Amino acid sequence: MSNWAPTGWDWQPPGRVIAGPGCLARLGELAPERDILLVTSAGWAKRGVVQRIAAALDGARIALYDRVTPNPDIDDLDAALPVLRQSPPALILALGGGSVIDTAKALALALPAAGWNFASHFRAGVALPEAGALPILAVPTTAGTGAEVTPFATVWDKTHRKKHSLHSPALIPRGVLLDGELTLGLPHATTLHAGLDALSHALEAVWNRNANSLSDGFALQALRLIFAHLPAVLEKPDSLPDRAAMLEASLLAGCAITQTRTALVHSMSYPLTAHLGVPHGLACGAFLAGVLAYNRAADDGRIAAAAKALGHADAAGLAVALEDLLARIGLPQELAAHGVTRAAAESLAGEMITPARAGNNLRAAGPADVLDILRGTLI
Ligand SMILES: [Fe+2]
Repeated sequence: MSNWAPTGWDWQPPGRVIAGPGCLARLGELAPERDILLVTSAGWAKRGVVQRIAAALDGARIALYDRVTPNPDIDDLDAALPVLRQSPPALILALGGGSVIDTAKALALALPAAGWNFASHFRAGVALPEAGALPILAVPTTAGTGAEVTPFATVWDKTHRKKHSLHSPALIPRGVLLDGELTLGLPHATTLHAGLDALSHALEAVWNRNANSLSDGFALQALRLIFAHLPAVLEKPDSLPDRAAMLEASLLAGCAITQTRTALVHSMSYPLTAHLGVPHGLACGAFLAGVLAYNRAADDGRIAAAAKALGHADAAGLAVALEDLLARIGLPQELAAHGVTRAAAESLAGEMITPARAGNNLRAAGPADVLDILRGTLI
């Protein structure tokens, strides 16, 4: 018996989303503009995909910005602005993983605002630009962040070791292409870490105070796909159906967190990334089982309902299935390989409560609860 009653929503979806292997060839349908800035990482230019994009865009002028690095830095972005503003594009096309899409979003916001830069915004409090952002098309090449549908972009002030979030409806891409063929060559570790991020988004949307019917529907379908296809794609990395399913799951989980934001797992993950350099999705994966156990004690029916929707008798069945999944995909070994020990995590426990994230969690959590959860996790 569930005591949870969803209460409505406010959702701004991307303009158009096309999913299916090979759909990159349909890029022209989403991009009538003739001046396009392609934001990507250097590897994609080498692999010939940029040429395929040029063919799909049929004569459009394409400028290339391929200096994206993992966790985009605000000083790097500011250094690029004057050059890119000399020939402003009409559209920004992002081809890559979360860092590429976040960089594209940041540039879309900054380029039309002459004289504005990230350093003065984040270090001196200058307001976000009032001028409209450029439209964005997103072609994700990893299956995890969901950045292609969210209004958020994460950027870093590496000088001051700070993580910042840009948040604006203008950052929601106008169009998205999910082409599983682009993820076929992803390395095992990237596939695993991104998949854990998508899994974390879906679960965090379920055990979230902001959950509603939309987020719950998106999250449950993402979970069905992830439980079925994440182990398979790790075992058979050349399997296009599994790759395509994970890309869809990532987008659906991203839609879920546009409604709910993330919760306690993400809050606890950030110190592992900031201090130990643990990749984001892996850092989240470390706490999934522990936070599920913690939240089950305060379940108002929504976790049990999710468990049933996934074919389990009750929330305990979901917990068993989650621990099986995490063991099967090698989470404990991957955490150990990144130096994540229980002692290391406990030493960072004091930084694991970020109110903007942890405050969304179904069950309130403070520093003592975090220590309890750490004792119950896989690590
Ligand atoms: Fe995440």
